[in-house]
Amino acid sequence: MKKIAIVYWSGTGNTEAMAAAVSDGVKEAGGEVTLLGPTDFSAAMMDTYDAVAFGCPAMGAEQLEECDYEPMFMACEPKLSGKRIALFGSYGWGDGEWMRLWEKRCVSKGAVLVSPPVICNEAPGDDDVKSCRALGAALL
Ligand SMILES: Cc1cc2nc3c(=O)[nH]c(=O)nc-3n(C[C@H](O)[C@H](O)[C@H](O)COP(=O)(O)O)c2cc1C
Repeated sequence: MKKIAIVYWSGTGNTEAMAAAVSDGVKEAGGEVTLLGPTDFSAAMMDTYDAVAFGCPAMGAEQLEECDYEPMFMACEPKLSGKRIALFGSYGWGDGEWMRLWEKRCVSKGAVLVSPPVICNEAPGDDDVKSCRALGAALL
């Protein structure tokens, strides 16, 4: 069974709800899933999983959450080359710029994105939940 990690941060629960739907998608597709916060994950753990979904909302000014998520992700960057990953997260008033920057950053490090990133405005609706499930299934 393929081992999938979902590493996410969420301040008000929107990205957390997305992570739960990504997890459902992994399970429905027959994978083994582990949900982790940024302080529970490290670069050394990248090799433990067949694929990793990273989730973080737009924070700061179109940035990742800077206290825990950004340092964790930066440490993982050297391990992204050739790695199968997915990106997801919620945003508020912007136009998704943080995700475009994040995706570019991953591609420049050689990551293999299993599908386009999934973003949603504030809390995920039914269609967003479906997209998150499909993202989870694509990780297998
Ligand atoms: C400190 C802070 C900074 C934010 N910065 C942005 C931003 O740059 N662009 C944007 O579209 N939304 C921004 N937001 C809105 C959040 O991304 C949005 O509310 C999101 O749904 C929060 O997800 P969460 O519930 O998983 O924490 C910001 C919110 C906070 C609290």
